[in-house]
Amino acid sequence: MLYCQILIGILSNLTNKRILLAVTGSIAAYKSADLTRRLREAGAEVRVVMTQGGTEFITPMTLQAVSGHPVYTTLMDVEAEAGMGHIELARWADLLLIAPASADSLARMVQGRGDDLLGAICLACEAPIAVAPAMNQAMWADAATQANIATLQQRDVHLFGPAEGEQACGEVGSGRMLEPLELVTACSGLFATGSLAGKKVLITAGPTREALDPMRFISNRSSGRMGYAMAAACVEAGAEVVLISGPVCLSAPERVTRVDVESAAEMLVATESQLNGCDIFIATAAVADYRPIEVAEQKLKKQASTLTLSLEPTTDILATIAEQAPATFMVGFAAETENIAHYARGKLEKKSLDMIAANQIGREQDGSPIGFESEQNALNVYWQGGEKALPVMPKSRLARELVELIAARINTKI
Ligand SMILES: Cc1cc2nc3c(=O)[nH]c(=O)nc-3n(C[C@H](O)[C@H](O)[C@H](O)COP(=O)(O)O)c2cc1C
Repeated sequence: MLYCQILIGILSNLTNKRILLAVTGSIAAYKSADLTRRLREAGAEVRVVMTQGGTEFITPMTLQAVSGHPVYTTLMDVEAEAGMGHIELARWADLLLIAPASADSLARMVQGRGDDLLGAICLACEAPIAVAPAMNQAMWADAATQANIATLQQRDVHLFGPAEGEQACGEVGSGRMLEPLELVTACSGLFATGSLAGKKVLITAGPTREALDPMRFISNRSSGRMGYAMAAACVEAGAEVVLISGPVCLSAPERVTRVDVESAAEMLVATESQLNGCDIFIATAAVADYRPIEVAEQKLKKQASTLTLSLEPTTDILATIAEQAPATFMVGFAAETENIAHYARGKLEKKSLDMIAANQIGREQDGSPIGFESEQNALNVYWQGGEKALPVMPKSRLARELVELIAARINTKI
């Protein structure tokens, strides 16, 4: 029973993780289809790239069927580059897993070659990279391979395996690729940092709705994704997480207690009621600054050509909580369209926060949105005497990086 709970905990670290699986030219490539299936069963989204060598051992068609997505095999592919090109794939990934990793692909990684799709992705990838070598025992033991592995490990590439045992060539020794389930567990372990173990984290997320009448409300474009990603990242880091959520179309991450609210007033009450014993408060919610002074009991009828609404300020949740719980580590978010650093530092001081993450709301050069309504975001994080810029990346990865910044700063709170 306990074993099952631990197993479920380990595996659910992979929920919604984006794993870019690279299949290279090893006989163990036949296991990649099962690995893809197992990763998806554990909740991960899997996309597959293959080297030319990899396609000699298992067909892209098979991996396309089990991953549910097109398989990418060539670098110089006009169509692929117009869709999900090598940079886009590298940026998409939460983890690049090369399994099986042939001796040759390891050697090419060490050289930093960019003349095939996998090489270019490895160079462009800022997410963690893990390799699962698979080769004949003599190839594995060879000094060149061992030197290559040592170099890759120095560059923070994670090494999964290899295992010992009987090999496809009939020899016995070290060089077998780990079994798919062992690789799933190893991937899961990469996402579990333990940096917030034993901490209770309270997070607000999403927009609020301020009612005008029983049918209408004033709200904003917040999707809640950043707050939900923060909740998932805090759970991965070992925290107990309560998520106070405005109305969003997202399901709660595994092992998160979610409390649903609508208005800013409800969000404040729910937050106050969960504050006891809270070590960290992260306010990602886009809380309305104003609400209608009067809420009509019946539907407002169309009458005059103009309608004037009178609004009053809502209570500032972050400032209120910061005052009520001075020992709690306070993290605010600021969504701005201009003068980010100026506004963010001002908010840090005025509300006595420990950290503020400011995001620019707007569009990337290619026109895709960042910030609200987007899968991607970039943050500038500020604290007393320090700052760090986190460039555009998926919100899930951004959340993990922010959690590590929080974990590094939390003990500085007196
Ligand atoms: C039948 C056969 C099996 C092979 N198995 C492996 C293997 O398990 N591990 C390995 O590193 N290379 C193996 N190779 C050699 C690689 O396929 C070869 O080095 C290839 O260039 C790797 O290409 P890639 O790294 O671009 O995928 C094998 C070759 C053949 C013909």
